[in-house]
Amino acid sequence: METVFLKASTAAVATAAQTLQAGELVAFPTETVYGLGGDATQSRSVKKIYKAKGRPSDNPLIVHIAERHQLDAFVTTVSDQVEQLMESFWPGPLTLLMPVKDGALAPEVTAGLATVAVRMPSHPLALALLKETGLPIAAPSANTSGKPSPTKARHVQEDLNGRIACILDGGSTGVGVESTVVDCTGEKPVILRPGGVTKEALEAVIGPVLTDAGLKNATEKPKAPGMKYTHYAPQAPVYLVDGTSAYFQACIDLFRLEGEVVGVLATDETLAELKGDVHISTGQATDLESVAAHLYDGLRAFNHHEEVTVILAEVYDEAGIGQAVMNRLEKAAGHRYLRASAR
Ligand code: TXA
Ligand code: MG
Repeated sequence: METVFLKASTAAVATAAQTLQAGELVAFPTETVYGLGGDATQSRSVKKIYKAKGRPSDNPLIVHIAERHQLDAFVTTVSDQVEQLMESFWPGPLTLLMPVKDGALAPEVTAGLATVAVRMPSHPLALALLKETGLPIAAPSANTSGKPSPTKARHVQEDLNGRIACILDGGSTGVGVESTVVDCTGEKPVILRPGGVTKEALEAVIGPVLTDAGLKNATEKPKAPGMKYTHYAPQAPVYLVDGTSAYFQACIDLFRLEGEVVGVLATDETLAELKGDVHISTGQATDLESVAAHLYDGLRAFNHHEEVTVILAEVYDEAGIGQAVMNRLEKAAGHRYLRASAR
């Protein structure tokens, strides 16, 4: 299949919308990462999404809408808490679980679960495209399963060229990590995946919010099926370095003594104090938002430095967007840490 590459314009949005209505797949920018969209009401389209990404069939998709009333077609009830969160954070990087109406969506979307994950993105191109189709659009991140999510149209091309009908290029996405997935269907609201809307911001609206223990704990299964897979990983193994710059340098030196070629993923300030083989910046230490925005591009960049055999990455404070940044880094590293001893 030849993948059509469209630069953002009104005509491009119209073409992309027709492509979706015809049951084909379109990659489009959102404020978090690029999504791979298909008609959520057609099994034929949704199956193509799983196939193009090589995604395990037990990992459900997020349904994207442009208008609140679209929920009525495929959700049975909207709780007060969900109502409050939609009011405060939609359109934006927040995905909410809601009980799904039987038969309203292609069954593959929810992978057999009783809930559907829904979000209204705030990116103007995404909203324009969704409005133009009038359809609920199922869209996972537009990467090959297991790779870092795409924050640029070029990343989508690297992974999916020839496998999907169309890529709508809207430049770099803003937030850089995916939406926060929140489950309000139980007794207490739980973050199943940290993301663009911080825990602190959620709590300011609905009070205490838990974080799924399965994200940190190797023995407990995460509640979002997608969070159990190795993910966001470049080709070389990643280790997280928790210690001073002197400790970080000692780790680099040790790997080099063993003949490894060491890639370093860190902020400008940290990189200035280190000497590894390939340095990739995640932005400024004083600005965790910039780290989130650069993270996936940084992880992907090592795949263009094939000589790198091991990647050492800086760690960040888990406050605010740092919770999402550290969750993705821990997954990329398979939770492998190099820690300076406590004393
Ligand atoms: O920012 C985003 O959310 C991006 C953009 C494109 O919107 N999308 C995205 O989709 O990251 P995806 O498919 O890569 O991640 C969806 C996550 C997975 O971890 C999946 O397991 C979880 O949401 N999920 C989806 N439906 C669920 C459900 N009903 N119950 C629990 N987890 C669910
Ligand atoms: Mg994904």
